[in-house]
Amino acid sequence: MQITLETKPLNAVVTDALVTYVFEDGDVAQGRIGELDRATSGLLAKLVKSGEIAGKTLEMTLIHAPAGLKANRLLLVGAGKREGFNGASLRKIAGAALRYLKTRSIHAFVFAVRENGATEEAAQALAEGFITADFETDKYKTEKKNNKSIDAVTIAGYGDSEKAAAEKGIARGRIIAEGQNFTRDLVNEPSNKLTPQILAEKAAAMAKDAGLAIEVLDEKKIADLKMGALLSVAQGSVEPPRMIVITYTPTNAKPGAPVVGLIGKAVTFDTGGISIKPADGMEKMKYDMAGGATMIGAMKALAALKPSVKVICVVPATENMPGGKAQKPGDIQTAMSGKTIEVLNTDAEGRLILADAVHYAKQLGATHLVDAATLTGAIVVALANVNVGVFGNDQAWTDRLLASAKSAGEKMWQLPMDEEYREFIKGSFADIQNIGSGKGGGSITGAWFIREFAGDTPWIHLDIAGTAWNDDAKAWLAKGPTGVSLRTLVHLVTSL
Ligand code: BES
Ligand code: ZN
Ligand code: ZN
Repeated sequence: MQITLETKPLNAVVTDALVTYVFEDGDVAQGRIGELDRATSGLLAKLVKSGEIAGKTLEMTLIHAPAGLKANRLLLVGAGKREGFNGASLRKIAGAALRYLKTRSIHAFVFAVRENGATEEAAQALAEGFITADFETDKYKTEKKNNKSIDAVTIAGYGDSEKAAAEKGIARGRIIAEGQNFTRDLVNEPSNKLTPQILAEKAAAMAKDAGLAIEVLDEKKIADLKMGALLSVAQGSVEPPRMIVITYTPTNAKPGAPVVGLIGKAVTFDTGGISIKPADGMEKMKYDMAGGATMIGAMKALAALKPSVKVICVVPATENMPGGKAQKPGDIQTAMSGKTIEVLNTDAEGRLILADAVHYAKQLGATHLVDAATLTGAIVVALANVNVGVFGNDQAWTDRLLASAKSAGEKMWQLPMDEEYREFIKGSFADIQNIGSGKGGGSITGAWFIREFAGDTPWIHLDIAGTAWNDDAKAWLAKGPTGVSLRTLVHLVTSL
């Protein structure tokens, strides 16, 4: 999709659809939208007055052949309340407009930002909104909605002096959104099309394209390194595991600068193992590799954005299957760090593979860690599909991430990590056990398990089990993988 700028007055813009947005206050007299209202002899004010346009969030009003304009259609999108309107609101409006026009077989449109809206951040949010909204999950449908695609979007409302900033924002937004769509493509793959080996191959192809270094550890190397926790999960499957390590090294690294470790759970299918899951809804467990896919997509974006810190991405990839060699409840495993683990539930496998990945990332030199994982069903109980669960052992590091989440427009919520919860995973027959013995707090005990392997290294855990997959399509995003937390991670790393 092409994204360009247009500086002509709006009434002179020739397009199939001209899009802008209206706030709940119904003020259509000022700025750009005022130009449109005057060009159409007060049509917009009339529609507001009659109540047809209320400006409610994502309300759509499509006007055909608007008299006084060169555009064939005028689409007015509700923007909600003027107070609190931000980049996240604009991103959704952009996405919703694109998807609305796409289903009406329109292939190109012009989107006009409103007064005070012509900033670099807004251009970035628009590009992100358009590109992520254009993503579809119909890869395996033989009959595609073929002529339904948006080929070109033009952004209007930027003056000549604001053009450079807009172009910068668009370029940045494109890089980030394409990283996010790359992640979503991986997450969308079913487990028969995306085994740990295939994930590693796709990561390698991306790394080659992006100019990133990559090393893929096979099952033999994983055994040599004594990654017993990862192997314990993998042993139940005929598909061998992989440990994917992608490294970005800046040309201008300052001595003593942080080295960021991005670690992502990639269980390409989670049956639960011997502690098998119920059949109902199990098909969704193909997305249990979303954490890993997020980190791989983030590396793609970072390679293009070139931050000044080194980043090491570590993705443990495996299936969790109940094969004849599968581990069984009660089995005791030794992680790479030397800690012993009593596996009380084979379905709590994400924390096992992350244990070795976190340890390995530290060994490779990471000084600041973030992991992302579809770790617990309990996070869905706590935060539903609205917020990502955030856990940390270092408040300064966690605060940086929360600030990045705010800037990137992703909802994240920190949960407590009191020492009391740590007691829940004290082992009876080994150092630790992989599920909590207490009642409740399932997401926190999961986080504590991983924290045992981070030790004193600043570390953040993102539980994306509730947010990595949209069960229903949103107006601005297709049903299925969301690519959540990638934008936050990219912001975090590039702002260090
Ligand atoms: N992959 C699941 C978590 C999950 C559940 C993700 C629902 C998305 C939706 C994870 O491996 C798991 O099974 N966790 C268990 C942990 C429990 C056994 C302590 C869970 O949440 O039930
Ligand atoms: Zn599981
Ligand atoms: Zn899982």
